[in-house]
Amino acid sequence: MKPHKEFLPVPLETSLVLIKPGGVSRRLVGEITRRIEARGLAVVGLKLMSAPRSLVEEHYSEHQGKGFFESVVAYLCSGPVVAMAVRGENAVRAIRAMMGATNPLDAEPGTVRGDLALSIDDNLTHSSSDPEAAARELALWFSEGLPA
Ligand code: CDP
Ligand code: MG
Repeated sequence: MKPHKEFLPVPLETSLVLIKPGGVSRRLVGEITRRIEARGLAVVGLKLMSAPRSLVEEHYSEHQGKGFFESVVAYLCSGPVVAMAVRGENAVRAIRAMMGATNPLDAEPGTVRGDLALSIDDNLTHSSSDPEAAARELALWFSEGLPA
């Protein structure tokens, strides 16, 4: 007999979300956080900060050498960002889907980028692409640690 789905383990994941400087200056912190919480995900770490360049370069190290690296690093350092640790069932995939495609012109309506952004230079959020990236990024942005 197949186990009832209630007894199957569901991956409880924690993902990193950054609200980029454009999202903060456009007063979208509440709207984006509201959508995350409305989905049933929990905010377990939250801070507003001016990110040092070294942290942002490390964060985007996978993109080092690409044409947009300099501009995306400069952009993330151009004003305060909100760093958020978000936890829940399949949180990494759920959040990526909620944020929408990298280029807001390709993002579906109903997503954060599809509803609230227009340009890839100012696509409002970062979210971890997979659980390994999430662990690496959370260690960078929440080096003080998170609740278990
Ligand atoms: O943020 P996401 O994971 O969806 O995209 P990425 O491919 O990891 O790229 C990181 C960020 O670099 C994007 O969110 C954009 O802000 C920026 N980017 C860009 O400006 N131009 C590109 N062609 C690709 C990315
Ligand atoms: Mg990415």
